[in-house]
Amino acid sequence: MATNTRSLAIVTGASAGIGYELAKCCAQNGFDLVIAADEPKIQQAAHDLRGLGAQVEAIQVDLATQQGVEQLYGMVKGRPVDALLANAGHGLGKAFLDQDFDEVRHVIDTNITGTIDLIHKVAREMCGRGQGRILVTGSIAGFLPGTFQAVYNGTKAFIDSFSWALRNELKDSGVTVTCLMPGPTETEFFERADMLDTKVGQQKKDDPADVAKTGFEAMMKGEGDVVSGLKNKLQAAAANVTPSSVLAEQHRRMAEPETAK
Ligand SMILES: NC(=O)c1ccc[n+]([C@@H]2O[C@H](COP(=O)([O-])OP(=O)(O)OC[C@H]3O[C@@H](n4cnc5c(N)ncnc54)[C@H](OP(=O)(O)O)[C@@H]3O)[C@@H](O)[C@H]2O)c1
Repeated sequence: MATNTRSLAIVTGASAGIGYELAKCCAQNGFDLVIAADEPKIQQAAHDLRGLGAQVEAIQVDLATQQGVEQLYGMVKGRPVDALLANAGHGLGKAFLDQDFDEVRHVIDTNITGTIDLIHKVAREMCGRGQGRILVTGSIAGFLPGTFQAVYNGTKAFIDSFSWALRNELKDSGVTVTCLMPGPTETEFFERADMLDTKVGQQKKDDPADVAKTGFEAMMKGEGDVVSGLKNKLQAAAANVTPSSVLAEQHRRMAEPETAK
């Protein structure tokens, strides 16, 4: 009987953007894949990733829901998970009081609740075996009060913080936790967040393949966090010594509707 010697990675939000590129890094580095996203094009992503030699199972689920997370975890069918890349997430632009609260809740349920629910399930199994790698996609947005994207930035502040705390809790377990913190990246993110009329929505952004490679390599080395790109590293460092009122005003200039030139 053939035995499968490839490792297994779960990648969420793998249909597009940074998540698709993370899944490619996994496939090119000996991982089979279980991938998830909430639209049918996850199947096209699976087809393309199989072309890189990986066995790929794909599921279309809303990871903002408990049922969606359980369905995804059920796809693993008891096989040990060597790497979890918890990347699915989305933004929401405009002023908080102009946002639809169902959409607000969906941002929180996807970026926080669904993300840590999946991590809770997978990390328990990893700790039981004494090995595993977890990469969470946070953001440098977690350092900035997100005027005109207030809830999203708050979710990323949660994820950036949670990731370091879990890493410390698991430091003697054989399981590593790494937080990838991208800056503005050329994906569907800003269109989906209805932010194409903003300065940040229109500015030149990082290449998602470069961002994913940085994150994948940091995960494989077991690093604590990684900010992708020099400009973002400088922005993250400056945020640590800048008053929150100034950061909030700077964010207004980037994310207020109709700030695009
Ligand atoms: N782009 C940036 O500037 C930037 C910067 C910092 C951090 N990030 C973070 O990077 C991660 C990936 O974003 P991206 O820029 O690559 O955006 P993207 O191109 O819009 O990709 C987002 C992915 O997440 C999936 N997703 C979103 N909500 C989901 C849900 N409720 N259930 C299941 N799947 C869901 C999407 O699936 P469908 O396609 O099926 O909807 C898609 O595959 C996010 O966590 C984001 O917050 C992005």
